[in-house]
Amino acid sequence: MTALIEIHSLKKHFRLPGGWLSGQTKHVYAVDGVDLTIASGETFGLVGESGCGKTTLGRMILRLIEPTSGSILFDGKDITAVGRQNMKPIRREMQIVFQNPLSSLSPRMKVEQIVAEPLLTHKVLARDEIRPRVIELLKQVGLGEQHLDRFPHEISGGQCQRVAAARALALNPKLIVLDEPTSALDVSVQAQIINLLDDLKKSFGLTYLFISHDLNVVQHISDRIGVMYLGKLVEVGSAEEIYNQPLHPYTQALFGAIPMPVVGEQRELKVLEGNVPSPVNPPSGCRFHTRCPIAQKKCQETEPVLREVRSGTSSSLSTGHLVACHLVE
Ligand SMILES: Nc1ncnc2c1ncn2[C@@H]1O[C@H](COP(=O)(O)OP(=O)(O)OP(=O)(O)O)[C@@H](O)[C@H]1O
Ligand SMILES: [Mg+2]
Repeated sequence: MTALIEIHSLKKHFRLPGGWLSGQTKHVYAVDGVDLTIASGETFGLVGESGCGKTTLGRMILRLIEPTSGSILFDGKDITAVGRQNMKPIRREMQIVFQNPLSSLSPRMKVEQIVAEPLLTHKVLARDEIRPRVIELLKQVGLGEQHLDRFPHEISGGQCQRVAAARALALNPKLIVLDEPTSALDVSVQAQIINLLDDLKKSFGLTYLFISHDLNVVQHISDRIGVMYLGKLVEVGSAEEIYNQPLHPYTQALFGAIPMPVVGEQRELKVLEGNVPSPVNPPSGCRFHTRCPIAQKKCQETEPVLREVRSGTSSSLSTGHLVACHLVE
C-alpha cells in the first residue's frame, strides 16, 4: 500500500472581518492541526457535526483553499506551495463532487458542455474526439446520448449527480473528494448513487475522500473513517473498528449509542446533547471536554494528541486505530 495523500499539521484559520481598530483580530479555527494519510485505492470517510471543518479540509487537499500552515503531499509530491501554473497538471488528478448537484453544475450549460469542459480546458483531446469521449463518460455513469442536450434543470437530482461524476471522471483522476454527494437527494436515489460511486471506484482504481453526515452511508462505503471535532481528528480507524468498537467518547456518542440500523433509515449526527462550541474560541485542553460525559480535570488542561492504540497491518502506512483521548488505555 502506498499513500496517495499525506497531510501534516494542516491548519486553516479564517480571519474574521473587523477588529483591526481594536487590535483584536479574531479567527475561525476551522481546521486546526490535522495529520492524515489516505492510501491509494481506499475510500476514506470523514464524519463530524456541521461546522467541524470537513469541507475546509477537503478543499485544502485540492488546494481550492490555501492552508494557513502545514503540508500536503499528493502522490509523494509536496503540493503545499506549488504555484498556479504548476498546479494545473496536478489538478487534473484530483476532482471534487459537491453536495448540491443543481447549484454546482452551471445552469446555462448543456450536459455535453458540462462534461466536455475539463477536456477542453486541459486540451487533452482533439475537437472531434471530445463528443465520443463525453458519450463514453455518460454511459459509464448510467446516462446516454439522449442526455447530451439537456440542461441541469431538465434532469433529476440523481441524474445531475451522475453528470457531476462523469465530469469528475473526464480527466482520469486519481483522487475524488466527494463532499456530501448524496445528502441533497431523495433517499430512494441515494443508494443508487452510492452504488454507482462504489462501482466507479473499483473500475477506475480511484481513491475517495468521502465526506458525509450519514453514518450508514459512511460505514457502508468507507475502508477507513476519520471522526472530526472542532477542526481536529479525534479518532481514525477501519470502518469496522469505528462502527463496532469506537474508542473516543465523541465517536461513541455518534456511532456507539445508536440502535441497530434499520434498512432505508437515515442516521444524522444529532445524538449529542449541547451545541458544538464556537471554532472562534475552542475550549482549552481536549476540545470535547465541555460535552464529554467522562471528562476529568486533565482533559480541561492538556490537549490530547492523536496516538495509535492498535497498530495497522501495513508497515509503511499508519493504518492503525488512532485516538485522541487521555482516558483511552
Ligand atoms: N470562508 C470562510 N470564512 C470564514 N469562516 C469560514 C469560511 N469557510 C468556513 N468557515 C467556518 O469554518 C468552520 C468549518 O466550516 P466547514 O464548512 O469546513 O464545516 P463542515 O464540517 O463542512 O460543515 P457542514 O457539515 O455544515 O458542511 C465553520 O465554523 C465555518 O463557519
Ligand atoms: Mg461541509
